[in-house]
Amino acid sequence: MSGLLVFGRTGQVARELQHLAPVLALGRDAADLAQPGACAAAIHAHRPRAVINAAAYTAVDPAEDEADLATAINGAAPAEMALACAALNIPLVHISTDYVFPGTGHHLGAR
Ligand SMILES: NC(=O)c1ccc[n+]([C@@H]2O[C@H](COP(=O)([O-])OP(=O)(O)OC[C@H]3O[C@@H](n4cnc5c(N)ncnc54)[C@H](OP(=O)(O)O)[C@@H]3O)[C@@H](O)[C@H]2O)c1
Repeated sequence: MSGLLVFGRTGQVARELQHLAPVLALGRDAADLAQPGACAAAIHAHRPRAVINAAAYTAVDPAEDEADLATAINGAAPAEMALACAALNIPLVHISTDYVFPGTGHHLGAR
């Protein structure tokens, strides 16, 4: 495989990506991000040129009751993706939300 690997096959963002470009989109059946090691195993198995993470625990209110699960999917899994992509020297694009990064902070390029 030599293209883009997308996590979150059934989600809104990933479905749009699948309309835009030929990608390998993986769903929960192929990589359950709540399971440690699942996304890294998928990345190493497919050896893509880049990874886009469009998977997330997006139900805001239930996330407060399932904080461990939400943290595993939204925190640990992207960290695992980052390490796997770094090991293969490929880019990772992580789609976040303005609930986390509202755009009011400063970044290195800010003046
Ligand atoms: N949609 C927007 O307009 C928008 C705007 C700004 C930012 N974002 C960000 O973009 C990302 C994706 O948003 P979305 O709207 O596409 O979300 P979504 O429609 O709720 O889709 C979430 C995706 O994550 C998958 N997922 C959840 N838990 C999983 C697990 N344990 N293992 C594997 N996959 C799992 C879901 O799979 P299942 O179908 O199996 O549950 C689904 O494919 C989020 O981080 C969101 O904050 C979205």
